Amino acid sequence: MLTCPICQAPLERLDNGVKCPAGHSFDRARQGYLNLLPVQHKKSRDPGDNAAMVEARRQFLGAGHYAPLARRLAELAAERAPARWLDIGCGEGYYTAQLAEALPGSDGYALDISREAVKAACRRAPQLTWMVASMARVPLADASCQLLASVFSPIDWNEAARLLPAGGGVLRLGPARDHLLELRQRLYDEVREYIDDKHLADLPPSLALAHTESLNFRLALDSREARETLLAMTPHGWRVNPQRRERILAEPFVVTVAVRYDWLERQTP
Ligand SMILES: C[S@@+](CC[C@H](N)C(=O)[O-])C[C@H]1O[C@@H](n2cnc3c(N)ncnc32)[C@H](O)[C@@H]1O
Repeated sequence: MLTCPICQAPLERLDNGVKCPAGHSFDRARQGYLNLLPVQHKKSRDPGDNAAMVEARRQFLGAGHYAPLARRLAELAAERAPARWLDIGCGEGYYTAQLAEALPGSDGYALDISREAVKAACRRAPQLTWMVASMARVPLADASCQLLASVFSPIDWNEAARLLPAGGGVLRLGPARDHLLELRQRLYDEVREYIDDKHLADLPPSLALAHTESLNFRLALDSREARETLLAMTPHGWRVNPQRRERILAEPFVVTVAVRYDWLERQTP
């Protein structure tokens, strides 16, 4: 199912990596993931989330604060029962591992452009094929995945449509309007409103919204560690000045967690 990110020919699996008939070869790292991001497709030396963001997300998610989000994601995926699936922008693999558990016997793949993220993720579920790769050039064959997961990540809709057979779909989990509102109010003088269905305007005609639902709850950020790691794993945390940051970290507060799940189904061509 794997294809060459340079010439799109099928890749053959070797002991230490993969290779296409034209001789393009890609290494398997010591940790087990495949490096399918050729230098000419990189826009910077270390694209994607850096080690500090990956570690913050690992700690925050590991503490179970977003466990209900992952549980519902896994349930929705299990309802679809895909034979093959791919998590696009898998980060450090928290949601991916729970998808893998909910989809036993399936052929699972996960990719992220951040090497640090995939390095951490691949330990969670060695039975999956983990890849450092770009979502703009996914190294998998056309119509090869019945389900694509996209969790708090950007997505290239045309590339997603290419990977899906008719009836397959993208299971997207993204922020809804009030997500982390109380944190954003502490961070910004003026809070910009999220438009939580903006992504639907970008859909190609081959993808249509077939199901949507939301999940909301209040989350108490009682420990300094919870506030610190939440700040560090969002882009908000990197923009805040030191005084404001310290004010946010100093006192417990409660945030709204508000997300939406969308199933975007591949239409018959
Ligand atoms: C907000 S994080 C979400 C990670 C994970 N899904 C989660 O929710 O824990 C977004 C992820 O998208 C990845 N990413 C950004 N641009 C990408 C691209 N062009 N191709 C693949 N991954 C990308 C980042 O490295 C990062 O890990």
